[in-house]
Amino acid sequence: MEKIVPLALLLVLCICTIRVHAKYYSKSAPYEPVQEKKTHLRFFLHDTLSGNNPSAVQIAGPNTTKNVNDPTPFATTFVIDDPLTEGPEPTSKVIGNARGLYVSSSKDKNLTLVMYVDLGFTNGRFKGSSLSVFSRNPVTEKHRELAVVGGRGRFRLARGVVLVKTQYLNITNGDAVLEYNVEVVHP
Ligand SMILES: *[C@@H]1O[C@H](CO)[C@@H](O)[C@H](O)[C@H]1NC(C)=O
Ligand SMILES: *[C@@H]1O[C@H](CO)[C@@H](O)[C@H](O)[C@H]1NC(C)=O
Ligand SMILES: *[C@@H]1O[C@H](CO)[C@@H](O)[C@H](O)[C@H]1NC(C)=O
Repeated sequence: MEKIVPLALLLVLCICTIRVHAKYYSKSAPYEPVQEKKTHLRFFLHDTLSGNNPSAVQIAGPNTTKNVNDPTPFATTFVIDDPLTEGPEPTSKVIGNARGLYVSSSKDKNLTLVMYVDLGFTNGRFKGSSLSVFSRNPVTEKHRELAVVGGRGRFRLARGVVLVKTQYLNITNGDAVLEYNVEVVHP
């Protein structure tokens, strides 16, 4: 408690200082476009629901009786921290992680997930940078694409698509390995 009190006090002081000096600020200048590059990345995402160390955990769902034929009914919500690897094998070199949420969001029979996911790279050329995916993912379709709406670090102001292919799926427990082919345009 003794340690928490001074910290809380400091925080309050900081907030007060900001409140005194901060002013709303706005300025516009002509936008100077820069030559953009197109980057192609290929890696695999491992989404593991089973076992005692899952990378995808359900945090919410509808209050209905479980239907064994539909493990992800409408409104089921997962939080993920899925490893991204160079190859499809679970032992393949990890190059990053996919962190965020996906939500089962179709009322009809064709399962659609909407993904709110940040693909972050921890290795290689794009270490420390990430891509923001905000998109529906019509998982029953063979070829599907996700929208990349932005990024951080070297992917600042990025936009593009991820073409997704299912490499492996266990329909009983939901574990999956997905091939991600990313095409992004960025400064
Ligand atoms: C779930 O629904 C049942 C029946 O409608 C209700 O009795 C129960 O309180 C609900 N549980 C929660 C957690 O809302
Ligand atoms: C579900 O998907 C199938 C195959 O892609 C399609 O023919 C059908 O129209 C879809 N159903 C709905 C309700 O969208
Ligand atoms: C799929 O999941 C079920 C249930 O966890 C398990 O019994 C089965 O061995 C898995 N199949 C494969 C090919 O791993």
